[in-house]
Amino acid sequence: MSLFNVYPLFNITPVKANDVYVYDENNTEYLDLYGGHAVISIGHSHPKYVEAVSDQVSRLGFYSNSIQNPLQEKLAEKLEFMSGCRDYKLFLCNSGAEANENALKLASFHTGKKKILAFKNSFHGRTSAAVAATDDYKIVAPLNAQQEVDFVELGDLKKVETILKKNETCAVIVETIQGVGGLDESTTAFYKGLDELCKKYETVFIADEIQCGYGRTGDFFAFQKHGVTPDIISMAKGMGNGFPVGGILIHPDIKASFGLLGTTFGGNHLACAASLAVLEVLQEENLMQNAKEVSAYFIEKAKKVSKIKKVKGRGLMLGLEFDFPIAELRKNLINKHKIFTGSAKNPNLIRILPPLTIQKKHVDIFFEALNKELI
Ligand SMILES: Cc1ncc(COP(=O)(O)O)c(C=O)c1O
Repeated sequence: MSLFNVYPLFNITPVKANDVYVYDENNTEYLDLYGGHAVISIGHSHPKYVEAVSDQVSRLGFYSNSIQNPLQEKLAEKLEFMSGCRDYKLFLCNSGAEANENALKLASFHTGKKKILAFKNSFHGRTSAAVAATDDYKIVAPLNAQQEVDFVELGDLKKVETILKKNETCAVIVETIQGVGGLDESTTAFYKGLDELCKKYETVFIADEIQCGYGRTGDFFAFQKHGVTPDIISMAKGMGNGFPVGGILIHPDIKASFGLLGTTFGGNHLACAASLAVLEVLQEENLMQNAKEVSAYFIEKAKKVSKIKKVKGRGLMLGLEFDFPIAELRKNLINKHKIFTGSAKNPNLIRILPPLTIQKKHVDIFFEALNKELI
């Protein structure tokens, strides 16, 4: 049997990794400024994480959500403390798309409405409603297109109000900083306005923090910079440092009832052990502060590179925009300089999403390589 061929692959086979480095079968070392798509938060194979996951799997890896699982409660408490999102409720699932799917479904249950408002250039995942709310017609199948979604330009509050006024929209879903779309972020006035309009028209405000959340910007959630109160916050990626786990934080105004949401694997013992280890390391190693400091250093260096036209994003979710397509440059960074970076929908943009443990010396290595390639 061969694999269903949906991924264009680089010819690299990692077999082990440590902190910000990944190694192939010949022990060639790669500097990971991509974090496997913003997933590696506390560094590859962090000893505390390895110990927590190994210890948990040796005792109990999984049992269903029909029994008590105190690890879920411990995770909820730690998440409340670390995020500062007081009194929200936690529902755990397995991926980003699933988190958004549950968020949208809950919004529809809560309001009794069925339309979604999303933004141009959004990416929310590849499942039913999540992909319908994703602004990329190529990945929306006719089945998904049955969902009713209005796409609005990021920043256009007037258009948002025109739509919400019709009283048909259950949820507004927005990435505080767009990931796949190319690192765009609107103004505080916009996010605050969105929050107010959602409250005014009884629409659930969903902050998709799957890529920009979990400490990546230096704040726990990226929306916190804008002082808004989303009704639902979706999370995944950095949450498990590679262990597949996602979740939503739900404002206490939205009430639970038995059977409203559910999952077989979500919140299993191993996922909780991995997620708890991530939060402990984030705290103990002050990684959000590190994200801010290394980000400032990175941006300063980027500003000195004349061929970089714009530096986008915040913290360790950054985009370097050029006035030419970067595919060749990215290939050379990987093949010649052994540095992983990311691409985006914008063909001129390199995405930088390293583990939050990255240090200034790694930034220096990147800029040395970049400058050599840009001569
Ligand atoms: C903002 C955002 N939302 C949702 C998703 C979907 O997450 P997953 O691939 O875990 O389903 C992604 C993945 O890239 C994302 O960046």
